Amino acid sequence: MLTPIATDIYAVGHIDWAVRDFHGYETDRGTTYNSYLLQFEKTAVIDGVKAPFAADWLGTLCQQTSLDKIDYIVANHAEPDHSGALPALVAAAPQATVVCNKKTQDFLTGYYDTSAWRFQLVKTGDTLALGAGKTLKFIEIPLVHWPDSMATYLVEEQFLFCNDAFGEHYATNLRFDDENPLSTLIFEAKSYYANIVNPYSKRVAAVLAQLANVPIRMICPSHGVIWRKNLDAILGAYQNWANQRVQPKVMVLYDSMWHRTATMAEAIMEGVAEVSGVTCKVMPARAITENALATEMLDTAAVALGSSTLNQQMMPMMAARLCYIQGLNFPGRAAFAFGSHGWGKGGPELLDAKIDELKWTRLCPPVLAKFEPTPEVLATCRQSGRALAEKALELAAASGYQKTCID
Ligand code: FEO
Repeated sequence: MLTPIATDIYAVGHIDWAVRDFHGYETDRGTTYNSYLLQFEKTAVIDGVKAPFAADWLGTLCQQTSLDKIDYIVANHAEPDHSGALPALVAAAPQATVVCNKKTQDFLTGYYDTSAWRFQLVKTGDTLALGAGKTLKFIEIPLVHWPDSMATYLVEEQFLFCNDAFGEHYATNLRFDDENPLSTLIFEAKSYYANIVNPYSKRVAAVLAQLANVPIRMICPSHGVIWRKNLDAILGAYQNWANQRVQPKVMVLYDSMWHRTATMAEAIMEGVAEVSGVTCKVMPARAITENALATEMLDTAAVALGSSTLNQQMMPMMAARLCYIQGLNFPGRAAFAFGSHGWGKGGPELLDAKIDELKWTRLCPPVLAKFEPTPEVLATCRQSGRALAEKALELAAASGYQKTCID
């Protein structure tokens, strides 16, 4: 779809209304693969689309330019959702030079036969003159979210083509942020960050510091909308997420075999509710998605982990959920384990050990019930819930979270 975004600058990417599984990430609202066409004295295309949409992409480009007029193809990142259609464009525009950093070249060469491609390698600070007084400047942003990730800055217009950073999976023909509900955009950006970018938060914080002195009028990512109005909203939200700032929120994540552990989860929630200013989200492991769990975890200060015991292990769905969370790396939460067991033990104890692996702080030893939780056990659950809520308040106050439009 061709959308003018400024004089001689067009969005030319593809809207993927149908995708619901993006390499395991659930994309309930579809996504977009954004590509940009810059037509000055030189013509440049920034980033590409996924392979199945190559013909559509070339058709969109041809609405505005002859392919033999393309001088540069800037590849900010080699992941196939942006590079899959590059071989088709290079074949159709063999005169074009592919501009990228060394890592991207290596990755592209790993994916495709690039033996006939003309490469120009760039690094941070390098520039490329497009004529008509327009200049591209390159800023490497390694591990946001791949080692090759790069942003391209159109100096005179102050447009930042930042690839995956500041993106969201959200299919819309309305290409600008101010044409869409801001709360939906920030929520989808939060989900995207939690599930894709979060492991690299230290790098993101460094990039945000790096960009603090760069004037930006438009953020043009490779997924979702172009930010031209609410830049403070997306940049502020990224400051929260990159710095692992948390809210006074408690999550009770559990799986239960015969509802005894579920009863304990309810009692913990009741204890949390006794503390003013703290919200509690009960997340039954089998009733939620991994994406929803990670999104919720991003700004949650404290967690109660519950499981029955199955074959001397924690419930398998708890193991799966925690494997996913551990990979995404949410350090610094306060936590305790709980659960009911019958004639065998192991589930809550394994959850308790997991607290160390997650780099969380243990609030108290596991709260255990043998078969039916007694009134005394449920009272301990409520007391532990209260203590966890108090800790959540403390962690949130220390983290400096700035409220966003979805809070
Ligand atoms: Fe949208 Fe890292 O690819």
